[in-house]
Amino acid sequence: MTHAFPNRSFTRRVKRGGFTLAAACALLFVCAPPSHARRQSALPHLRKQGTATQLVVDGKPFLVRGGELGNSSASSLEYMRPVWPKLAAMKLNTVVIPVYWELIEPAEGKFDFQLVDGLLREARLHGLKLVPLWFATWKNSMSTYVPAWVKNDQKRFPRSQGKEGRGIEILSTFSRENMEADARAFAAFMRHLREVDGRERTVIMVQVENEIGMIPDSRDRSAAAEKLFNGPVPAELMSYLTQHKETLTTELRAAWASSGWKPRGTWEEVFGRGPATDEIFMAWHFARYANRVTEAGKAELDLPMFVNAALIRPGYQPGQYPSAGPLPHLIDVWRAAAPRIDFIAPDIYFPNFIEWARRYKRPGNPLFIPEVQLGPLNSVQALYVFGQLDAIGFSPFSIESATGPAADLLTASYDLVEQLTPLIVEHQGKGEMVGFLPETNEPQRVPQRFRLGGYALNVTYERPGSAQPAQANPGAAPPAQTGDAPTGGLAVTVGPDEFVVAGTGLVIVFEADSPGDPLVGILSAQEGKYVNGRWTPGRWLNGDQTHQGRHIRLPAGRFDIQRVKLYRYR
Ligand code: DGJ
Repeated sequence: MTHAFPNRSFTRRVKRGGFTLAAACALLFVCAPPSHARRQSALPHLRKQGTATQLVVDGKPFLVRGGELGNSSASSLEYMRPVWPKLAAMKLNTVVIPVYWELIEPAEGKFDFQLVDGLLREARLHGLKLVPLWFATWKNSMSTYVPAWVKNDQKRFPRSQGKEGRGIEILSTFSRENMEADARAFAAFMRHLREVDGRERTVIMVQVENEIGMIPDSRDRSAAAEKLFNGPVPAELMSYLTQHKETLTTELRAAWASSGWKPRGTWEEVFGRGPATDEIFMAWHFARYANRVTEAGKAELDLPMFVNAALIRPGYQPGQYPSAGPLPHLIDVWRAAAPRIDFIAPDIYFPNFIEWARRYKRPGNPLFIPEVQLGPLNSVQALYVFGQLDAIGFSPFSIESATGPAADLLTASYDLVEQLTPLIVEHQGKGEMVGFLPETNEPQRVPQRFRLGGYALNVTYERPGSAQPAQANPGAAPPAQTGDAPTGGLAVTVGPDEFVVAGTGLVIVFEADSPGDPLVGILSAQEGKYVNGRWTPGRWLNGDQTHQGRHIRLPAGRFDIQRVKLYRYR
């Protein structure tokens, strides 16, 4: 089937019958006393399945069909009023949403959760889960979201310093006062969630801080920082490095190898001199701070928590980009310093989407993309990360501003993800799925080859609107993807010789990749949809739709699901 336009039926349902009951329930739960709330269902949590890590919500693995709001939208319930139904109609199930320390604790120790409660209420009314972003000590490196009583008391809440002794608007990571003030506020926020969200579990994960990183210098030059920089590398870090020596990232190994694997010493003695060492030093201290904030929050409500990173522009050195954040080359330092943080996550605004996504899917680190550049490609990026990288979620940035093709395509793609969720979560982490996405936006005709379920899948990407001429050569590729035209998808092996394929603009030629007869034919290809997890067949495809048995094709310009059975012959 084809989904070219946002489905508005959910919004209509909410507006009609659902409203009164849901509104009453939401109010009841926001007002429910803590003892009542604590009796409720299991908390959202992470669990392993094979090589994947799944997010479990309300007892079931959950795929976040998300979108992150622009920074200021969630500061006004009025501004958000038309946004909620729009997001629900776009088939999101989760909104990634800032909460602001300065609005939550406008005076020290005086907390105001009216805004938070209003956001929870609206999310519930629209059937949406929330992933709050704790905009606190750091937001894109800077400290703009700290309350005025923090900003105005530099003596008690010191800032980082540049080389020439001038302050930078980045609260110092070397100040216990800074850290404990943030931790107290975060604990109060999480305590409040425990009290008001105990039954509904509207909040499913929390991001601690936002894009932590040091810029425009590679390290803080304050006296407190310099003292620690010239002191020994902490024993905890040295012991982590020793225990994980064989699996450290290439970059960290190289730094440590440069000193001949010194077991102790100052940062420069152990890792060498230069901005890379400054970055390791800062990463350790940022991560310790974030870990303390996370720990304080988890003590109140133990939800999965993560940190996100601004990525590195090619050729930039530490200090030129927000350095020392939760970047893949620093994952060992972050893990050693911040065991309470469940995973690190990328904000992908560069064109090499696949490369960055792959770098964050590593043993012990599930892929969750809290931010990605909004655009038509999101539709296929989402299918790729769920199919190929066992992602637990995907979330374009500034989702409320999505219009035109970006919005329509994402809606169609999220509709597919919603239908396929039971199948995807069943097969995660078992080597039974693949995701398809062109490596670049350049026209490319070389088929990508995937091995799945005893077959090789040769995949080519077609251009929307391209005619489907009969091809003399079954393996020949149709015209490739150019510009913003989205093509991509996923495939799942669901039984012997049987696959579910989903996506747009794909041609798949199957080849034998296991013992048996060498040639492969299509026994059947059927399009259809999953309704409540059950396959509901549509057209039976043959003839031109499979190029007379030569390939499976998901045409560009629409999002389809097909179930395919193969057979072998000589
Ligand atoms: C990444 C940040 O995390 C967001 O809060 C926002 O500032 C975007 N960049 C803007 O592109």
